Amino acid sequence: MRRKIVVGNWKMNNTIAESEILASEVLAALGENFSGCEVGIAPTFLALEAAGRVIDGSEIQLVAQNCHYENDGAYTGEVSARMLNAAGCASVIIGHSERRQYFGETNATVNLRVKKALSEGLNVILCVGETLAERESGVTDAVVSSQVHEGLTGISDISSIVIAYEPVWAIGTGKTASSAQAEEVHFLIRTIITELYGDIAAEALRIQYGGSVKPSNAAELFAMPNIDGGLIGGASLNATDFAAIVKAASH
Ligand code: PGA
Repeated sequence: MRRKIVVGNWKMNNTIAESEILASEVLAALGENFSGCEVGIAPTFLALEAAGRVIDGSEIQLVAQNCHYENDGAYTGEVSARMLNAAGCASVIIGHSERRQYFGETNATVNLRVKKALSEGLNVILCVGETLAERESGVTDAVVSSQVHEGLTGISDISSIVIAYEPVWAIGTGKTASSAQAEEVHFLIRTIITELYGDIAAEALRIQYGGSVKPSNAAELFAMPNIDGGLIGGASLNATDFAAIVKAASH
């Protein structure tokens, strides 16, 4: 039985002080009541330390939104996996569609980042997902398949990886993939992982869904056999909504 995992991706929201407040609210809203589910929050780099202090000693994990593929050096504006590890992060989101869309991330750079994060002892949430144009032209499976294959190139052990399926057309748009649409792609991803890593690794892999997950649709999504939790954007900025989504995953 896979343990569900719900992570709040705060994106470029909240100052340090606001992040501390939201982290405290999340802590209070969750209470002790999420033992069936792994939970993380991903503040901006700037607020990692402060939010990390708030959740220190709790079960909530500190997650970063991205990392570079070198340890240090002349990469202005970047933050390395080594630094995230030292800052107390358990995990890092890599290849989010906003990174791919606005910051030139490719499957190749995503793969470098995944390898570096793993080598620095971080868990990885590897994001994949098709755009609306790709879905409408019938290439969803091919796009997701190459993102999974190329994102994992050269990686022999996926036990520290979670894959997040996030259809780009559902992110921040209020349009959720139906649970059946999401399940179809989650099943595809698990099939690819079975081919690449065998049954045991594929059975153990958690595949999160992301894209307009809300308290009202979370339970239905999480009830699907291959949906193992969620990567939550907008709704994670409200502690009550985020806690309701965690609760839906904890059943
Ligand atoms: P959303 O974002 O929940 O606001 O759609 C999800 C994500 O991008 O991780």
